[in-house]
Amino acid sequence: MEQTRRPLIVGNWKMHGSLADNAAWFAHYLEDGPSAAAPVAVEAALCVPAVYLEQCRRALAGGTLAWGAQDVSAHPAGPRTGEIAASMLAELGCRFVIVGHSERRMAHGENDAEVARKVVAALGAGLSPIICLGETLAERVAETTAAVIERQLSAVLEAVDEAELTRIVLAYEPVWSIGTGRAATPQMAQQAHADLRAALARRAPRAAGAVRILYGGSMNAANAGALLAMPDVDGGLIGSAALKVQDFLAIVCAAA
Ligand code: PGA
Repeated sequence: MEQTRRPLIVGNWKMHGSLADNAAWFAHYLEDGPSAAAPVAVEAALCVPAVYLEQCRRALAGGTLAWGAQDVSAHPAGPRTGEIAASMLAELGCRFVIVGHSERRMAHGENDAEVARKVVAALGAGLSPIICLGETLAERVAETTAAVIERQLSAVLEAVDEAELTRIVLAYEPVWSIGTGRAATPQMAQQAHADLRAALARRAPRAAGAVRILYGGSMNAANAGALLAMPDVDGGLIGSAALKVQDFLAIVCAAA
């Protein structure tokens, strides 16, 4: 399938950060990163704990680095203690929101149906959901990777109108590679991404060539180039390596 997709590099800070550390990270990025005056072909974004979104808005508005959240409520604003509505994220300037990260699927019991509802809520507020999919080590050993990620994807595809699908982003994140220092090989990533794109094409042939599929799981400055060179790897979702601004910038450069 023709590659006309703009590379996308997203940092996932998870539950890290402090007002002071974030300010230093932002200052460094604004100093050394791509400027609005000389933009690069790569789109970059940072998904931070929700309490820091206002800090992102103040520091990053008008620049080349977008921001987003790491989770969203499936429900509109209302009496749901502790939840954050998609409309609230949009009001803080978020372009993206991560949905269905394996850490939430495992520790918070999020199932495919709940993830699909969150995707619909995000799209309804004008956000681009970054939908995480991936197999566990046991599932890879059992050679069920394709079946698992296609099942996770199909729940989303059933819930979303075809016309909206071009706004979603997929992130293939094998669970065994997250935070372990063991990234998938470029060939493993390419195979999973091609499987996901083929599944997309069966449901939405026109959207399939446009949807960006990111790789996530121990991507770093050293291995990013080889992973990003694969034809269906359209970017990265970066955890640990996004905590150091130099490493994150190196990955943005590798994508450019
Ligand atoms: P990692 O995390 O880069 O630290 O493996 C990626 C993720 O969980 O999104």
